[in-house]
Parts: sequence; C-alpha cells; structure tokens
Amino acid sequence: MTVPATSISYPAPKDQRNADRPVLVLGARSDIARALAHALAARGHPLQLAARQVDRLERDRDDFAVRHGVPVSLHELDVTRPETFADMLSSLPVAPRIVISAVGLMGDQDSNAADPALAMQVFATNFTGPALFCEEVARRLDAADMSSALIGISSVAGDRGRARNYVYGSAKAGFTAYLSGLRQKYARRPLLVMTVRPGFVATAMTQGMDLPARLTTTPEALAARILRALDKGRPVHVDPLWRVIMGIITHVPERIFMRLRF
Ligand SMILES: NC(=O)c1ccc[n+]([C@@H]2O[C@H](COP(=O)([O-])OP(=O)(O)OC[C@H]3O[C@@H](n4cnc5c(N)ncnc54)[C@H](OP(=O)(O)O)[C@@H]3O)[C@@H](O)[C@H]2O)c1
Repeated sequence: MTVPATSISYPAPKDQRNADRPVLVLGARSDIARALAHALAARGHPLQLAARQVDRLERDRDDFAVRHGVPVSLHELDVTRPETFADMLSSLPVAPRIVISAVGLMGDQDSNAADPALAMQVFATNFTGPALFCEEVARRLDAADMSSALIGISSVAGDRGRARNYVYGSAKAGFTAYLSGLRQKYARRPLLVMTVRPGFVATAMTQGMDLPARLTTTPEALAARILRALDKGRPVHVDPLWRVIMGIITHVPERIFMRLRF
C-alpha cells in the first residue's frame, strides 16, 4: 500500500542540489531512522518512509514536510515478507538515491532462545529480511547507474556472540557479513554500500536497560556521525570508542572468552 504524498504545500527545500536525491528509509518509525530522516530532510532530500502499519507515520510525514520543505511519501513494508519487496520498490513515486535500513528487533535473549518462533522473527527482522531487501534494492540502484548509497544499520552485537545476546547478535553478524559481500560486489560501481555498527543508543529498543552513560549515544548524535561518514564515502562506520572496545573483545582468546560473563 502506498499512502499518497501529503497535499499540504511545501516551502522550498533549503538545498536544491538534493531535491532529486530521494532517501528511502526502512523501519522509519525507529528512533535512529527518524533522526537520520530529519538530518537528511534538513539537507533537502525528499523522503520515502517505509514501515509496518505506515499510517502511524502520517503525523511524522506532515512534520517532516513542514519543517524541512521536502516531499514525503509513506510506504507499507514488513521486512519479513520478501515476496512484497519488488512491488513495493516499483510503487515508489521516484527511484531513491539513498536507501537506509534501520529495521531491527532485539527481544529478550532467554525467550528468543527458548522459542524458535521468536528466534525466527529476530533472524528475519535483523538478517534475512534486510539482507534480501538490500539485495533487491542494490540491484536497482546499480541499474540506475548514478551515484547512490545503501546504508545498513547492523550492530557491534554481531562482532562476537555473547551468552546474553546471541540470538540478536548472530542475526546482526549475518547482516554485517551480507553487507560486506554486497559492498565488494559493487565496489567498482557508483554505489556505496555502507555498514553502520552502533554501540549503545538510547532508543525504544534499549528503553529500560541499564546502559553505561559514557558508552551510550543519542539517535541524533549517531545520525550526525553517519552523515559525516556518508559525506566522506566511508564504507563502515563504528564509533571510535566502540571500535576500540570491540577490537579488544574480538581478540580475547576463545578459551578465556567462553568463561567471561558480560
Ligand atoms: N538502540 C541501540 O542501542 C542499537 C544498537 C545497535 C544497533 N541498533 C540497530 O539500529 C536500528 C534501529 O533501532 P532503534 O534503536 O532505533 O530501535 P527501534 O526504535 O526499536 O526501531 C526498530 C524499528 O524496526 C521496525 N521493525 C521491527 N520489525 C519490523 C518488520 N518486520 N518490518 C518492518 N519494520 C520492522 C520497528 O517498527 P515498528 O514500529 O513497526 O515496531 C521499529 O521502528 C536497528 O537495526 C537496531 O538493531 C540499535
């Protein structure tokens, strides 16, 4: 289902250079996605917001359009239904030039490990769904033969499996590896495939968790760093502090790592 673009009249976008570079955002209700969408709309990019029950985004659509003066359209997308991807992409008002996947589901590790249906939902939401969507959209971006970018939000949780989080972590590991492969596939083409591996971010996903303040960022700060990395054409973005932390964690010998509890 495609909800028609809002009928309100738009003020002129601030940066006309981006007026023909629409951004498609998957998981557009996510806090990180919203922050990215605001930052990109402020640069004059039209927005195509995709989510489940997308009519819940009607107020956001009007807010983006009024605040940033860009066209905003809404598109229904459940990332666990790959059979709908091609039709959804074909229904977009114009082909996007930047695509962001911000869908994700963490759930509770013990419940995920105990219930195969929950685990499958976590795998499908974080790995198989976004990976298959990225495959389809990368093919289309490549066929357009113009400068474009595909940004996949994975997680440092995928860098090494931990007892506390391995269902979600392994799904993110799969997505990280998939994006790496896509990046190599299109390396000689004008398509940048970018992987973002955030550490802790204060969002709905982490609400109620006791996160260390010094290691936790906001969606807005992360969005600003992602856009800086995009501007520089960086293929991978990890916060420098998390790069150090995960560099250490991934180098701990397995015999020691398996006994650690964190
Ligand atoms: N927060 C963190 O600390 C952190 C750290 C590392 C990576 N990440 C990743 O960052 C991304 C954004 O997460 P967030 O922190 O902003 O959390 P969030 O606010 O919970 O966003 C997750 C989004 O995924 C959407 N989603 C879930 N299942 C879906 C499905 N089947 N089809 C389409 N959309 C679906 C949700 O939509 P509904 O509204 O329909 O549920 C929600 O908007 C995720 O990939 C997450 O794994 C987050």
